[in-house]
Amino acid sequence: MVARKGEAPLPKVNPRTGRTRLIAANWKMNLNHLEAIQVVQKLHFKLRTSDYEYCEISIHPPFVDIRSLQLLIDSDRMNFSLGAQNCYFEAKGAFTGEVSTQMLSKLGVRNVIVGHSERRSIFQEDDGLIAKKVKAVFDSQMIPILCVGETADERSDGLSADVLSRQVSTAIKAVTPEVLSNLVIAYEPVWAIGSGTPASVKDASDGADLIRGTIESIKSKEVAQAVRILYGGSVTSANSRDFLESSSLDGLLVGGASLDPDDFAALIEA
Ligand code: 13P
Repeated sequence: MVARKGEAPLPKVNPRTGRTRLIAANWKMNLNHLEAIQVVQKLHFKLRTSDYEYCEISIHPPFVDIRSLQLLIDSDRMNFSLGAQNCYFEAKGAFTGEVSTQMLSKLGVRNVIVGHSERRSIFQEDDGLIAKKVKAVFDSQMIPILCVGETADERSDGLSADVLSRQVSTAIKAVTPEVLSNLVIAYEPVWAIGSGTPASVKDASDGADLIRGTIESIKSKEVAQAVRILYGGSVTSANSRDFLESSSLDGLLVGGASLDPDDFAALIEA
């Protein structure tokens, strides 16, 4: 993101962590391109200058909305980062229905969600495929938001730590340390997504600490300290502040509460 004259300011580094906070809106399969324009216009109208200084705000609409939002964000000089919810790792070819990282990068996309639990469970994406996507996003000079998290069964079987470290280590193995420092990981316990019952701040922070520890053990302390770790799963304006006060967490990945500009602005302002 390059600051341009007259636009909303760039986010500042959190002095407690040395990292820039990120609040990302995952719209999932909601809002067509006309609705998307209205939501982003209203959100920009609601937010204060200080909100843009507090954190990077990344909007992840369906693919078909991206071009419209790119034009809106550019023409009105809004400081939202443009995001995508998925990608394919091949550059081009006979992959019906897929979208490459090069195509997203050309549209001004900055952050790409990779390995969301809905991709893993509904579309059978495995750790190997997700690792290829993480590498492809970096190769196209964008930032992957790698989603990891255990299911309710894995949690009750005491497997949460094993699942998180396997998901993280497979996804980052082939990425060089210099590039990896830019990675964002979203800890999204599957049982908390869309359930109305978020993880406790302690559980979310413990998950983030475990993820950071895994990166440190595979790569280095320096890289682990640079990676941003978000929490996602039933975040609302009533609980966002609690998560953001944890020094283990660098932000939030928000589903349902990001669809309504009033709710999402309240969540950021909280
Ligand atoms: P909800 O905020 O709707 O629980 O969704 C979380 C999520 O899956 C974000 O990626």
